[in-house]
Formats: sequence, structure tokens, C-alpha cells
Amino acid sequence: MELNIMAKTLLHLFVLLTALISLAVSDPLSDNFLQCLSNNPNITTTDFVFSQNDTEYSSILESTIPNLRFSTPTTPKPLALIIPLTYSHIQSAILCSKQLKFQIRIRSGGHDSEGLSYTSSYESSFVVLDLRELRSITIESGQNTAWVETGATLGELYYWVSKESQNLGFPAGICPTVGVGGHISGGGYGNMMRKYGLAADNVIDARIVDANGRILDRNSMGEDLFWAIRGGGGGNFGVVVAWKVNLVYVPEKVTVFSLSKTIEEGGSSLFNKWQYISHNVSRDLFMRVIIKPALDESGNRTIEVKFSSMFLGNVDKLMETVTDGFPELGLQEKDCSEMRWIETVLYFDDYTVGRSIDVLKERNSVPKSYGIGKSDYVKEPIPEEKLEEIWKWCLEGDMPVLVLEPLGGKMHEINDTRIAYPFRKGYLYNLHYVEKWEDYSTESFEKGINWMRKMYENMTPYVAKNPRATYVNYRDLELGENDNLDDTSYLNAMNWGSKYFGDNFRRLAMVKGVVDPDNFFFFEQSIPPLIMCEEKSGIGSC
Ligand SMILES: Cc1cc2nc3c(=O)[nH]c(=O)nc-3n(C[C@H](O)[C@H](O)[C@H](O)COP(=O)(O)OP(=O)(O)OC[C@H]3O[C@@H](n4cnc5c(N)ncnc54)[C@H](O)[C@@H]3O)c2cc1C
Ligand SMILES: *[C@@H]1O[C@H](CO)[C@@H](O)[C@H](O)[C@H]1NC(C)=O
Ligand SMILES: *[C@@H]1O[C@H](CO)[C@@H](O)[C@H](O)[C@H]1NC(C)=O
Ligand SMILES: *[C@@H]1O[C@H](CO)[C@@H](O)[C@H](O)[C@H]1NC(C)=O
Ligand SMILES: *[C@@H]1O[C@H](CO)[C@@H](O)[C@H](O)[C@H]1NC(C)=O
Ligand SMILES: *[C@@H]1O[C@H](CO)[C@@H](O)[C@H](O)[C@H]1NC(C)=O
Repeated sequence: MELNIMAKTLLHLFVLLTALISLAVSDPLSDNFLQCLSNNPNITTTDFVFSQNDTEYSSILESTIPNLRFSTPTTPKPLALIIPLTYSHIQSAILCSKQLKFQIRIRSGGHDSEGLSYTSSYESSFVVLDLRELRSITIESGQNTAWVETGATLGELYYWVSKESQNLGFPAGICPTVGVGGHISGGGYGNMMRKYGLAADNVIDARIVDANGRILDRNSMGEDLFWAIRGGGGGNFGVVVAWKVNLVYVPEKVTVFSLSKTIEEGGSSLFNKWQYISHNVSRDLFMRVIIKPALDESGNRTIEVKFSSMFLGNVDKLMETVTDGFPELGLQEKDCSEMRWIETVLYFDDYTVGRSIDVLKERNSVPKSYGIGKSDYVKEPIPEEKLEEIWKWCLEGDMPVLVLEPLGGKMHEINDTRIAYPFRKGYLYNLHYVEKWEDYSTESFEKGINWMRKMYENMTPYVAKNPRATYVNYRDLELGENDNLDDTSYLNAMNWGSKYFGDNFRRLAMVKGVVDPDNFFFFEQSIPPLIMCEEKSGIGSC
């Protein structure tokens, strides 16, 4: 087995070499890297390494950068994009990066909110391992499980699952271009989480390439690492090449609705009621709230509260459920549409009905803009009398959006320590703040970023404290960063680490200390290795 992997590695080193020779890269670091990759002289293809001199470099790099804030002339760019076609390409890239002290960034769907999958703020050479070509999806009929390679998008996964059976689905996020690599690594929320938990809760096996270039599965990686990669955040422990997931039952027809009320139309009191019931209604009902400025009938700017919902059942059952639990909403049958589960994916993408689901297989249709985000969790309903002030802060932004995702149901049942994702019982909903702008000017950047900082500051009294919980899939570097590779201390990282992982942060750092003690998988907010020497000293790090 070991020998087999070695042989494959050599073969692929060789392939990499070939590609590089033809690229005429002159950067000395890049030359070294390519030389390392070229220890085996078997030339087959030039299709998977792209240096900055390659004509396709820019289009590949940019194709999965949805946030233009990380695609400016001053954004640090990787020396090369490596697009592995086989697992052994990944092994080679890891071993050579390690040997030459290159940083490696792993990219699946590229939706990282700080761009960490394709850029780096450290003054060192880095390459991007872009998994887009490793995206096969194998559904194991009869077992309701699937192996999905991490270069696949959620849209592709949903598409192929629904092709297999109208009664199968997968509980994960709503944006079809998000990659399963990063998404599942950080947890993965979506319309079915109250019923089935996070995407990561439904992972039953995985294949990962570790810092030593070994390919491990659940059995060979052990339960600690398998625990850590489910919710511990992407990029920390190795390159996940595939997940094995449990598929879940969905009825043949589900029902969606999207109902908006401005503040003048009673949006505030509806929102207030929502805070009490959304996490505690039938787990077949998922009611997301989207709050943003909008124009009222007379053209005045106001706040709109949108209830954007999916129900795992038909419209009659939905009406019954809402009439019981949330009669104030005034939902009517005409507000609702029944459709197949797979069609809801497109519905929530742009709130239209009737598009062909084939677009889910298109990977490059990401709408782009400049943006910044932060997130919080809410443990107690925000007092109704405070809402007006919060709307006022929202109106100070250009195009701000607050997305609130109710928890409860299965999310409250799963033990905080079952996987690395920690925020379960006691957390009512997640609150995602997003601000966007359209132009590349210092003024717009400052305005957007300052609005976000102020909003986050203002919200302090209303959100979870100790820790001020944050969802790692909405990564936020303003919470703190590792200074540099030689100075990554567990203590320094504890401040932001506990915001993402609560009490699970310590175990994550200990797993890191075992599987990647040299901190090869290092980035601005990577989990620091905690190497145990003396338990008694309290912190226990050396
Ligand atoms: C428009 C939009 C909508 C979103 N909607 C939702 C939603 O509904 N629910 C939700 O939970 N989240 C949502 N997110 C957040 C999203 O889940 C995270 O940004 C997620 O990390 C993106 O994964 P990715 O593979 O696309 O990103 P990438 O940028 O490729 O990766 C994100 C991080 O994971 C690492 N990584 C990527 N692939 C691998 C791998 N194979 N092995 C190890 N590490 C890897 C990267 O290095 C990086 O650190 C949304 C984000 C955006 C921009
Ligand atoms: C080179 O490639 C050929 C054709 O794929 C293969 O038969 C041969 O074993 C390879 N040699 C090495 C050293 O990997
Ligand atoms: C690109 O190629 C040109 C000419 O071969 C060379 O001068 C330049 O340094 C190269 N740049 C990089 C980034 O490799
Ligand atoms: C949820 O609903 C049940 C009964 O419907 C009620 O007893 C309980 O207090 C509610 N929980 C919360 C957190 O509102
Ligand atoms: C809209 O704004 C104008 C000007 O500020 C104001 O006179 C008017 O009353 C507003 N209309 C509504 C419906 O609030
Ligand atoms: C969660 O799991 C831990 C470890 O198994 C256990 O000690 C704890 O009691 C569990 N918590 C709950 C609420 O069940």
C-alpha cells in the first residue's frame, strides 16, 4: 500500500515537472518548486499546473472569487495554481511545498469570506491547490449514501442526488456555487438543518491527504481527526478529497414561500414573534429572515423583513402549521408554491420559479461584488423595543443585509461535543451581517467596512457573550490572526478560537498538535498546534 502510493507520487511528480518546463517560469522560488515536482521524468500532460505566466492563470484564479475585495491589483497572488487530476497530484504538491517551505492554500468553491483559499497576507511564497477537477459524485443506491469529492459544488451534489431519487436530498447550504470542501469543513447550514442537522452532522466517512502526504480514511485517520474535520473549519488539518455522506428523505412535494413586510406594515412585531417561535415550531418548517433596506410605495427608504421559508410537506400541512404557530404572519395559500425539493434550490437562489435545474451544473455563474461579512448567534430574543434602533443602524448602510437562520429541532438535540461545530442547545438563531458595494474606490471600501464594524459593535448587548459566538464558515479576520508561522500560540489564538469553537477549541488544537505538529497547514486563522507536555500547568502547551 505504502509503496503503491510512493510509486504514484513519483509518477505524478514527473507529470508536474513536464507541465512546468513548458511554462517557462522564471521566478526562482517557482523554479525550485517546479524542480522539486520534477524528480520523476515521465511527461504526460501540461493541464494541471498554471504559473503566473500562463494565459489561463487569471481566468482560472478569478473564476471562483465571488468577493471582488480579494481580487484587486494589490491582492497577493499565488505563484502557481495546481489543479490536481488525481490524489497523487495532491500528495506531490504537499510534499514539495513542505520541503521548500511554501505555503499551500486549498480551494474548493472559493467562497471563503476572507479569501483565504486563494490569497495570503504573509510575505511568503504560496501556491493554490484548486480541487475543481476532483468532483465526482458516486451515489450508493439502496444505502442512501454518497461519496462526493470536495471539488464539487453544492449545486452539483443536489443535482445528482435528486437524479437518483425524488425522495432523496442533502441538508446543506442554499447557495449552489458554494464548494463542499470548505462548506462541510465548517459545518454547513441550510433549510433542512432543523430536521437533519448540519451537512457535517451527516458525514460518515472522509478521505484526507495529511501533512505527510498520506491518504487516510476514517478508519486510518482515527476518531479524533475525523471529529475535527467536521466543523473545525477548512484548511487546518489536511486536504479533504472526499466526504461520504448520508442522504436524507425529502417528500416528493415540498412548499416554499417568501413574504415581505416593511416596518410600516408591521414587520417589527412579526420579527419579534419570529424570534420566539422559529426555533420551536415543527422541524419541517424552516423560516429564514432577511432584513434589508427597501423603498416603500412612496419611494421612501425603509426596512423590509422577509420571511423566506421551506416546508417539508404540502401546502395544506404548511398552512396548518403556520396557522397554529404563527397566525400573525397572515400567510395565504396564494403566497406558497409546491415544488420538488431540487427546485427549491433554484427558488432560494433568486426567488423565481421554473428555471431548468440544469443550471445547477454550471459552476461559474457566481454574481460578483465587493463585500464584507460578520456573524453572531442570538441566545435570547432581542427586546422588541430595541428593534427600531437596530433598523436605524441598518439604514445607515449602503446595501446591508441581515440574514437570520433559526436553529432548534435537531440542532438543539445534538451534543455540543459530537463534532467540532459547537453551537447547539441554547442558541436560538444565527445572525449574518453582510454589506456590499459595487465600485473599487477607497471611499466605498471604507464606508462598507466602517459600517460593518459599527454594526457589530452596536449589536454587542443583544448577542451571545462568553464567547461571542461566530460561525467559522463566515470567517472574519478582524477577530484576530496568527502573527506568523513562527509565532502561533494557542493562548493568542484562544480569543478568536473560542468564538468559533467554544469549548471545542482546545480539543481542536490538540488534534492539530498530533496530526500537524509542524503547522504545515498554516494560515491567518489556522488552529495552532497544542502539544501536550505537562497537563498540570493548566494550559498544557509546551
Ligand atoms: C454567496 C454565499 C452563500 C453562502 N451560503 C451559505 C449557507 O447557506 N450556509 C452555510 O453554512 N454557509 C454559507 N456560506 C458560507 C460557506 O459555507 C463558506 O464560505 C464555505 O467555507 C465555502 O466553502 P468553499 O469550498 O466554497 O470555499 P473555499 O474558499 O474554497 O474554502 C473555504 C475554506 O475551506 C478550505 N478548504 C476548501 N476546500 C478544502 C478541502 N477540500 N479540504 C480542506 N480545506 C478546504 C479553504 O482553504 C478555506 O480555508 C455562503 C457563502 C457565500 C459566499
Ligand atoms: C511513465 O508512463 C508510462 C505510460 O503511462 C508508464 O507505463 C511508466 O510506468 C511510467 N514510468 C514511470 C517511471 O512512472
Ligand atoms: C514570465 O516570462 C517572462 C519571459 O519568459 C519572464 O521574463 C518573466 O519573469 C516571467 N514571469 C513569471 C512570473 O514567471
Ligand atoms: C417551545 O415550545 C414548547 C411547547 O410548545 C414550550 O413548552 C417551550 O417553552 C418552548 N421553548 C422555547 C425555548 O420557547
Ligand atoms: C416619504 O418621505 C416624504 C419626505 O420625507 C414625507 O413627506 C412622506 O410623508 C413620506 N411618506 C411616507 C409614506 O412615510
Ligand atoms: C455530551 O457529551 C459529553 C461527552 O460524551 C457528555 O459528558 C455530556 O454529558 C453530553 N451532554 C449532554 C447534554 O448530553
